[in-house]
Amino acid sequence: MRLDRFLSNNTEFSRKQIRLMLAQGMAKVAGQTVTEGRLDINEFTEVTFDNKTLQSKTAHYLMINKPCGCLSATSDPKHPTIMERVNEPFRRQLHIGGRLDFNTSGLLLITNDGKWSRRLTQPEEKIAKVYRVETEDVIHPEYIEAFRQGMYFQYEGITTQPAELKILDDRLARLTLFEGRYHQVKRMFGRFNNRVTALHRESMGSIILDPSLAAGEYRALTPEEISFTAVPATIIPSTINSSATIPLFC
Ligand code: URA
Repeated sequence: MRLDRFLSNNTEFSRKQIRLMLAQGMAKVAGQTVTEGRLDINEFTEVTFDNKTLQSKTAHYLMINKPCGCLSATSDPKHPTIMERVNEPFRRQLHIGGRLDFNTSGLLLITNDGKWSRRLTQPEEKIAKVYRVETEDVIHPEYIEAFRQGMYFQYEGITTQPAELKILDDRLARLTLFEGRYHQVKRMFGRFNNRVTALHRESMGSIILDPSLAAGEYRALTPEEISFTAVPATIIPSTINSSATIPLFC
């Protein structure tokens, strides 16, 4: 939003008064005097005007290593939730960017920046999400083409984006998706009547789960991670230790 519009929405002054007050140097953005009303600001830009702070909100970005047996939710009457693991005063402001199922483990991103988390999760953004998948039965090479071609999901009326499947062992694969449909991994393997017995998310875009985080631990993202890129799936797997074992269901 433009600064002048923000000031008009958040003060009792008219647009003409705001123009004059801006010219007189009465607005500060991130501590700097600003006279240009056309300046773009967002919900995390600190704004003071006429010596009053109108907006001062910090953006928070965390990665957590989600354990299995834990809901991707803020609260639940029956089950432990991932948000209960986050011991921060700003916890109530946070939401999850791309949920994982109860028994899925791995990278979960938590933030109070809605624009940022939408970019992570909207299918049009084509952010690569990499999973290690363990299955009940053998994963056959014919799966690769079926995953690449996409599968029609009748419930949503969509065909899944081409996905990259790399078979690592008889019952172990790495799957890269470019969207996050409901139970997508399990449903895709379900087409072959092959049940997923363990699922672990390794990365989202260029953000890779920090191997030093034990299950349930979290840390703040670095500035590079915050400005993540979609990263082609072909680049991600080589950066991840493929011999790492995935946790089994709890
Ligand atoms: N696909 C699934 O089936 N489950 C998850 O938790 C994530 C992707």
